[in-house]
Amino acid sequence: MTEPESTAAPVPAYTGPSRVLSGVQPSGALHLGNYLGALTKFVALQDQTECFFCVVDLHAITVWQDPAKLTAQTREIAAAYLAAGVDPAKAAIFPQSAVRAHAELAWIFNCVARLGWLDRMTQFKEKSGKHKERSSVGLYTYPVLQAADILVYKATQVPVGEDQKQHLELTRDIAAKFNNDFSAPGFFPLTEPLIEGPGARVMSLRDGAAKMSKSDPSDNSRINLMDDADAIAQKIRRAKTDPEPLPEGLEDLKPRPEADNLVGIYAALAGVTKAEVLLQYGGRGFGDFKPALADLAVAVMGPIGERMRRLMDDPAEIDKVLRAGAERAQAVAEPVIEETKRLVGFWPG
Ligand code: TYM
Repeated sequence: MTEPESTAAPVPAYTGPSRVLSGVQPSGALHLGNYLGALTKFVALQDQTECFFCVVDLHAITVWQDPAKLTAQTREIAAAYLAAGVDPAKAAIFPQSAVRAHAELAWIFNCVARLGWLDRMTQFKEKSGKHKERSSVGLYTYPVLQAADILVYKATQVPVGEDQKQHLELTRDIAAKFNNDFSAPGFFPLTEPLIEGPGARVMSLRDGAAKMSKSDPSDNSRINLMDDADAIAQKIRRAKTDPEPLPEGLEDLKPRPEADNLVGIYAALAGVTKAEVLLQYGGRGFGDFKPALADLAVAVMGPIGERMRRLMDDPAEIDKVLRAGAERAQAVAEPVIEETKRLVGFWPG
C-alpha cells in the first residue's frame, strides 16, 4: 500500500500550549550574529512562554568535530546562553544528545520528508560545496533533525536568524505531512519562525554581501562573544565602509551593504529601528559613526564576554544547569515521542 494522499481540505489547527524552542551548534566561537539573531530573542521570550534552548551537538557532528573539543564547546554555548541572560530557572538549557527523543523522532521524520524537499535546501549546497559525495549523510538530513528538535516539544515558535528560514519551512511541511499521513490533524503544530528585526541577518564586517559566520577564515569579519573591548573597537574601526556620509533615509541605505550592515548592528544593539539610527546619524560620516558604534558594542558585548569567561571557570556549575535542563526537556519530549510512535503503529500500539 502507498502512503495516503494529501488533502486540500482545511485541517484543524493545533490547539496546544505555546512553546519556544531554539538551538545553537557547538561548532566554534559564537559571534555578534548569533547574539543578535538568536540569543537576544531567547532572553526576551523566556518571560513570555515556556522555552527550550538546546546546544545542538548532534547537528555539530554532521561535519567532523574533535571529540575532546566538542564537550568543551557544548559547555561554552551553555555559558553563552547564561551570559547573554537566559535564566535556567525560566528556560531549559540542555544538550540535544541528552534527550534521546530528538534522534528517535528524526528517524521517523526521515521517513516522512521527501528527497525532493531536501534537494532544495540551500544550506546543504553551501556546506557540501563541490564535494557532495564526500559529505556525511547526516549533513544532508540535517534539516530533518532540526524539525525533530522543534516538534518533539510541539514548539509553536522558533527564534532564529534569517539563514534558518528555509529549515523552518521544511519543519512545517514535515508537520503537515505527518498529521495528514497518520490521520492526526493538529497533532504537530505548524511552527512560526521568529525572524524579524535588524539583527536577523548580520553581515561580515569585511564584506557586506556575506553573512557574519563562524567559518569565515578572517577573524576581522566578525565580533566574537569572547572578544575583549580592544578587539571589538578595533574590528569596528577596520570594518569595510564606503566614503559617503550616512544617508538620511532607509532607501538610500539599500545599495550600500556595508553601511546598511553597520546601521543594522547599531539598531539591534541599541534596541531601536534603522530609521531611528539614521535620524541621529544621517548626514554624518563614518568618522563619527564608527566610534559611537564601537562604544555601544563594547558596552553591550564586553560584559557578556566577561560573564562567559567567569562561567567557564566553573564547568561543574554549567553541567548542573545542563543536567537539570535535560531532565525538564525530557519530561516534555517523552510523551510526545511515545504518542508519535503509537500513531505510526509501533508495538505495542
Ligand atoms: P547556528 O549554530 O548556525 O546559529 C545559531 C543561531 O544564530 C543565527 N545566526 C545569525 N543570525 C543573524 N546573523 C547572522 N550572521 C547569523 N549567523 C547565525 C542562526 O540563524 C541561529 O538562529 N540549524 C541551526 C541550529 C538548530 C536549530 C534547531 C535552530 C538546530 N536545531 C532548532 C532552531 C531550532 C544552526 O545551524 O544555527
